[in-house]
Amino acid sequence: MQILVTGGLGFIGSHTVVELQAKGFEVVVIDDCSNADEKVLDGIEKISGKKPIFEKLDLKDRGKVEDFFHRYPDVEGVIHFAASKAVGESVEKPLLYYENNIGTLVYILKELSKKNKASFIFSSSCTVYGQADKMPITEDAPVKEAESPYGNTKQIGEEIISDTCKVTPNLNAIALRYFNPMGAHPSAEIGELPIGVPQNLVPFITRTGVGLRKELSVFGDDYPTEDGTCIRDYIYVVDLAKAHVVALERLLASKNPKNYEVFNVGTGKGSSVLEVIGSFEKVYGKKLNYRIVGRRQGDITTAYADTTKANNELGWKSIYSLDDAMESAWKWEQKIRN
Ligand code: UD1
Repeated sequence: MQILVTGGLGFIGSHTVVELQAKGFEVVVIDDCSNADEKVLDGIEKISGKKPIFEKLDLKDRGKVEDFFHRYPDVEGVIHFAASKAVGESVEKPLLYYENNIGTLVYILKELSKKNKASFIFSSSCTVYGQADKMPITEDAPVKEAESPYGNTKQIGEEIISDTCKVTPNLNAIALRYFNPMGAHPSAEIGELPIGVPQNLVPFITRTGVGLRKELSVFGDDYPTEDGTCIRDYIYVVDLAKAHVVALERLLASKNPKNYEVFNVGTGKGSSVLEVIGSFEKVYGKKLNYRIVGRRQGDITTAYADTTKANNELGWKSIYSLDDAMESAWKWEQKIRN
């Protein structure tokens, strides 16, 4: 049996390929390398002792998607990461985001609908909750109006899958709503590639630590939280990758009571920006140069997951602590700078 991982050279995708191969799955990766490098295949091979099959392919080309599924009839499961993910850019280029994140999803689902049985895992995001009214956030918390075209593609993506599953009993799908992924493989063979300006807190911290940036800006310390900085649920990328494998196995073994399900993937613990900096300073061994600046537009105050559903139904739980994840992020940053 083959598993297709789209965007398999990306940050979460590459870690998931490693976990799938560790479980004996034969993996086919599709990536257009628009935000990834083919060298990631070497990193995967160093960890797994095996390179996945690789197809450099643009999923926006409907004909190429059809052709791929003809050439790989043994693909029974798809983990779909391939998407654009920069919130700011999505505001500037909404059609690029809708084409990239929605168009490709539709093409893949069309092909999977033709199969006798297919399993599909979708990368969704806690961004669908916006600023939730209650913490921790459960899966039945209302989906709030999206703040950006990127966020909207995750909401619409979930709706497309849900609608398709209603009329396609052969299709089984799970949407995983990630909280804030961070870290790198403990081997430092794969991690988040430094293409362009980083988008998230942890790469900003490690780049400051390594001297590429003079200081870190902390966006606001006047939020209604204990230390005034925003709270997020930072999930280690290896734990997150494992959640995909567990979700896929649930579908392959027909253990899913419904053919469309949604799960939060987080640690269940919220950490403030200053706590994340404190965690970094433990591995760094000195103080990080940071400055409190004004709030960043569009930031919510607090978001952390209720992971009871994933714990009980998927049988998945995050294992690694923020400090473990931070250690791996720092090891990775130092490696890529050398
Ligand atoms: C961002 C995205 C969200 C995406 C998520 C996971 C935005 C507005 N939202 O969320 O759609 O699902 O990443 O990848 O981009 N911070 C600083 N200084 C920095 C960078 C960040 O103080 O230089 C703070 C932010 O204000 C926030 C926290 O760190 O409180 C985390 O920020 P970030 O990593 O960008 O994630 P989110 O804002 O949660």
